[in-house]
Amino acid sequence: TVTVRDKKHWLSVVEEIREMVDNDLGFQQVETKCPSQTKTFLFISNDKKVAGCLIAEHIQEGYRVIEEAVPEGSEGEKVMFERQRAWCCSTNPEPALCGISRIWVFSMMRRRGIASRMIECLRNNFIYGSYLSKEEIAFSDPTPDGKLFATHYCGTSQFLVYNFVSGTRSDQQSPNLV
Ligand code: ACO
Repeated sequence: TVTVRDKKHWLSVVEEIREMVDNDLGFQQVETKCPSQTKTFLFISNDKKVAGCLIAEHIQEGYRVIEEAVPEGSEGEKVMFERQRAWCCSTNPEPALCGISRIWVFSMMRRRGIASRMIECLRNNFIYGSYLSKEEIAFSDPTPDGKLFATHYCGTSQFLVYNFVSGTRSDQQSPNLV
């Protein structure tokens, strides 16, 4: 975990990684809005490389993704459908404590449980002395990968989202509010 109280060197490393992650996600380059409100978790591989990054922030509320029926078909077809569809969310805010602003794993190391391990670490360390429940976590404007991961991790496709701004990313349709 790296916070503003840590040495300047680490903060500049984190800022560099964030820029790289934002590039990968298609986010426009923006400085971290409020560094004192964010916690960054890095997954360092055995060969001492940054293989994963999770940036979390304090939030008050999230909005539940509204589930749409997935059409019948093979597993592959279902995943393809999940990847391509825009997500819809409720307009009713629900209380939440922790927002996952970015989650990213190096492409060669995906599907090995690294993102899941980073979230476990987040849940243990985000609020001192308490373990966050999955219901207290929301995902910022998830990408197709993020949506598939969050659905698996939360055990439901109706997980919480927040911070959706249409047109911030090039790869995704705007969310539909219903
Ligand atoms: N397709 C289908 N299911 C997936 C995918 C995927 N691409 N990624 C994760 N899952 C599901 C699977 O059920 C997986 O379990 P399994 O491998 O046993 O089937 C389970 O989630 C756990 O996955 P992890 O291995 O813990 O996740 P990983 O380390 O691969 O990281 C991540 C997932 C972070 C989404 C990665 O794919 C990534 O970096 N993608 C590019 C960046 C990105 O889009 N990040 C999300 C942005 S949204 C946001 O930041 C809030």
